[in-house]
Amino acid sequence: MKILTTVSELQREISRQKESGKRVGFVPTMGALHEGHLQLVKRCTAENDVAVASIFVNPTQFNDKNDLLKYPRTFEADRDLLEGVGCNILFFPSENEMYPQPDTRQFDFGTLSSVMEGACRPGHFNGVAQIVSKLFDAVLPNKAYFGEKDFQQLAIIREMTRQLKYDIEIIPCPIVREADGLAMSSRNRRLNPEQRKNAVEISQTLFKSATFVAEKSVGEVENYVKERLSRVPGMVVEYFQIVDSFTLQPISDWSESREPVGCVAVFCGEVRLIDNILYNLK
Ligand code: PAJ
Repeated sequence: MKILTTVSELQREISRQKESGKRVGFVPTMGALHEGHLQLVKRCTAENDVAVASIFVNPTQFNDKNDLLKYPRTFEADRDLLEGVGCNILFFPSENEMYPQPDTRQFDFGTLSSVMEGACRPGHFNGVAQIVSKLFDAVLPNKAYFGEKDFQQLAIIREMTRQLKYDIEIIPCPIVREADGLAMSSRNRRLNPEQRKNAVEISQTLFKSATFVAEKSVGEVENYVKERLSRVPGMVVEYFQIVDSFTLQPISDWSESREPVGCVAVFCGEVRLIDNILYNLK
C-alpha cells in the first residue's frame, strides 16, 4: 500500500493508473477505523482495480470544537487495517495540504440540509461538501463508497455530485453493527463501560419500533422511540424523526412515503451517536 500525503503526488499516481486503463474506487474516512469502514474498503477493492482510502479529520465539518479535539486518532492501527483488506493507496494529508487557504464556498442543499443533522449541527454538511469535493477533485474515482449509517450525509453527497457534475458513481453500503446491534462508530470508543452497555438501547429500540409500524401511526412510533430512549440513564435524545428516505422531509402519515426511515441522534453523556432504520411497510 502506498501512503501519499500531498494532492499532487496522489494525482500523479492516479493518472498513471488511469492511463493504463485501471478503474479507481474511493473510500473517504476520518480514521479511527472499525469494521464499518473496512466493509466499505473491502467492497471497494472487490469492485475496482485500484482502491484508494483517505484519512483526514476535517475541521470544517465540526461545529463542536470539543468533538474535534476529542476525535480519536489512531493512524498506525488504521494503516495496518487498510493494508490488511487490500487497500492500494492511502491518502493521509495534513490540514494545510487540504486547506492552504480557508474554503469560503457555501453550498446550497435546500431542504436536504435543513433537517436533522443539518438543523442540529450548523455548517456541518457545508464542511462535508467542502472536503469531499476537494477529495473527489484529487482522486476523480469511478466509484465512491459511503455508509448508510450517515444516511443524511449520503443524500447530501449524491446531491453535491449532481450539482458539481462529477462523473462518479456513489455506492451506498449497509450499516455494520456490533454483535449486540450498536451501530459501529469511531465515537463508540469514547463511551465508558456503563454508557457502552446503555447504548445498545438505541438500535434495540429502533429494531423494536420496526415490528409495529403496521399497527401504529407515525406519531405513535416517534413517541415510543423518544420515550423509551429518554428513560435510559445518561441518555438525551436530540431528535428522532421519521422522514422520507429520498427527500428527508418528515412525514406525518405512512402514506406520504414509499420508503420511510427513522433517524435518531442521542447524547450518551458527552458522546453524540446517530443511527437509523428503514421501515418496510409491506
Ligand atoms: P467517517 O465517520 O470516518 O465515516 C467514513 C465512512 O464510513 C462514511 O461513509 C460512513 O457512513 C461510513 N461508516 C461509518 N460507520 C459505519 C457503519 N457502522 N456502517 C457502515 N458504514 C459506516 O463520514 C465521514 O467520516 C466524513 O464525514 C467524511 C465523509 C470522510 C468527510 O470528512
